[in-house]
Amino acid sequence: MTTESSPLFSPLNIGSLTLPGRLFKTATAETRATADGYATQAVIDFYTLLARGETPLIITGNIYVCRDGKSAPMQLGADEDNKIPGLAKVVDAVHAHGGKFFAQLNHCGRQVIPRFAQSPVAYSASAVKDLLTGTRPQALSLPEIQRLVGCYADAAKRCARAGFDGVQLHSANGYLLSQFLTPYTNRRSDHYGGSMENRTRFHREILAAIRTRLGPDFPVIIKMNGSDWLPLRDGLKTGDLVDAATHFERAGFDAVEISVGHYESGFPMVRGTFGRCLRHMVDGSMNYLPEPRRTLLRVFRPLVALASNLLWPGRQGYNLDYTPQFKQKLGIPVICVGGFRSRAAMEAAIAQGKCDAVSAGRAFIADPFFYRHIRDNQPGPHCVDCNGCVGHLGAQPAECYHPAVKAEKDAMLAREAALGTR
Ligand SMILES: Cc1cc2nc3c(=O)[nH]c(=O)nc-3n(C[C@H](O)[C@H](O)[C@H](O)COP(=O)(O)O)c2cc1C
Repeated sequence: MTTESSPLFSPLNIGSLTLPGRLFKTATAETRATADGYATQAVIDFYTLLARGETPLIITGNIYVCRDGKSAPMQLGADEDNKIPGLAKVVDAVHAHGGKFFAQLNHCGRQVIPRFAQSPVAYSASAVKDLLTGTRPQALSLPEIQRLVGCYADAAKRCARAGFDGVQLHSANGYLLSQFLTPYTNRRSDHYGGSMENRTRFHREILAAIRTRLGPDFPVIIKMNGSDWLPLRDGLKTGDLVDAATHFERAGFDAVEISVGHYESGFPMVRGTFGRCLRHMVDGSMNYLPEPRRTLLRVFRPLVALASNLLWPGRQGYNLDYTPQFKQKLGIPVICVGGFRSRAAMEAAIAQGKCDAVSAGRAFIADPFFYRHIRDNQPGPHCVDCNGCVGHLGAQPAECYHPAVKAEKDAMLAREAALGTR
């Protein structure tokens, strides 16, 4: 396909916003903020490169909406007004290159190692222990849920004041909003539990509160799972999640992005190989796990890596297994994340009507100019799914940790710097 005829480079409307192309940078926690969640020059640099790559839409890594929603050190926060000037500098850097920029808003819920994040307390829909981290959260009371509705909406308002073009609620991958959706983690008997109407109430209340503060035209999208991938537990299947998405569309969300899995699922969210990933992980965030989980992980690491390699081998567009079912029921754009590397695979996904747009994380970590390189059919550093970046998640900056790919990236950036910025 030529670039002119390719659906990947045709415009897409998300709410009031028109984007010039359909390959987006998905959220990847930057892990470059200060210890108390303020933006730094390193955060600005990370996004400036993506904007220089002409990426049509960039979504930040997950930003905590209040202190008890923080999952990792060096995570960005939007929990206080005094964080707005720092966030505004990041937005200005992206806008200077013509990019559009969404902030991903998150509360981690029970998916936190409190000692790692120095979190005061872990909350969830219900007090269901996380099997990976061993964290047993407190069930949120009704007043606490209302407090959090306000936190999300206030954080959205701060992001809008900083200049962001929209926000994304993170309701995928087992974080708090995902915990409310999933019967395994939501065992409530009040009006936030039971029916899908009830399990989507928290999300809809947050959206309504954002609309009250920012009006009907401010783009608000949501990331959710296409499958919870929780075998032997009461996780959601694709049909249930499509049902949830229809509630979200009716409530007024402007688009959905489809991912897969919770922490407890293992690695369906990323796929590839996991030796490097697990080696880094047990020395990083997992080092903060309570004993004996830490010891178990250390001893069985090679076995876990082998099993993960067999269960979740790398594959392009793996969440296309789910997105066609969302496309059948929804009128709003459906964005598919997961494994995209080649122009042909991305074009085929959109041309075949399996999704309206695609997004990528690791491909952009390896090559911040991924969008421009794909569009112009130019080579660039190519992610090999080693998941070294996942192994460092939350503990070290989101960066390519594959020595050969990283060397290629550094050489490319040095060449670019020598030529002057585009
Ligand atoms: C280093 C790293 C950090 C991530 N942080 C986030 C995050 O903050 N929010 C989120 O929704 N997903 C996060 N993800 C998941 C990605 O958004 C995406 O779903 C996943 O990487 C699969 O897409 P890919 O194959 O294009 O990388 C992260 C992934 C990586 C590798």
